[in-house]
Amino acid sequence: MNSIDSSIRVVGLGGSLSKVSTSLAALKLALQGASDAGAKTILLDIRSLDLSIYAPDLDPPATVIQMCDEIYHANGLIWSSPMYHGTISGSFKNAVDWLQLLGERDPPYLKDKIVGMISTAGGVQGLQAVNTMEFIVRALRGWAVPLVIPVARATQAFDEAGRVTDRTIEDQLRSLGREVVRASEQFNSHGYCDYSAEAGANTEQ
Ligand SMILES: Cc1cc2nc3c(=O)[nH]c(=O)nc-3n(C[C@H](O)[C@H](O)[C@H](O)COP(=O)(O)O)c2cc1C
Repeated sequence: MNSIDSSIRVVGLGGSLSKVSTSLAALKLALQGASDAGAKTILLDIRSLDLSIYAPDLDPPATVIQMCDEIYHANGLIWSSPMYHGTISGSFKNAVDWLQLLGERDPPYLKDKIVGMISTAGGVQGLQAVNTMEFIVRALRGWAVPLVIPVARATQAFDEAGRVTDRTIEDQLRSLGREVVRASEQFNSHGYCDYSAEAGANTEQ
């Protein structure tokens, strides 16, 4: 534990629609890192949210309103998507499409929020999904954390029950959670973030 401001709220959004999801398991580990660093953490599991497909004229369902409220009140976010066909999954993109509702809030969208990014992939190209997320973060006026965790060959890093089996990956995911808290705290109190003491200094990418 450290002395990071305990009012920092970190919301994790992600996971797939699979019963056992490596992207959800990875997200939970990163949130544990954030919690260990002193943040209040909230998990938004996309499978449990059971979101309808975004449509501009649809009255937002209760789960969408809850998701948007949690994200609006967060200082930091951690996003985790499986890699589908070289990019993020449709269900993850659909969740993000609903953040259009935050355009009416003040501050709008993800303004002044820190976002850490994770992908889990069958192969080794998971950075493509992370790069897609980064475009979205910038479009929504958020701040992407430089440390990103594209988990390659995810079925080797997690077992069939979704438990992590690769301690290096576990350490990297926890580091990301701590880094989101550190950056969120700095942004919250100073309005800027100093990356010189990055938590991922021992994490080669
Ligand atoms: C529809 C679909 C598309 C996929 N496309 C890719 C891909 O382009 N590259 C890759 O490395 N893995 C791909 N995979 C494998 C997933 O990225 C991998 O199984 C991931 O761990 C799934 O995440 P989850 O456990 O959270 O469901 C794909 C899997 C599915 C179901």
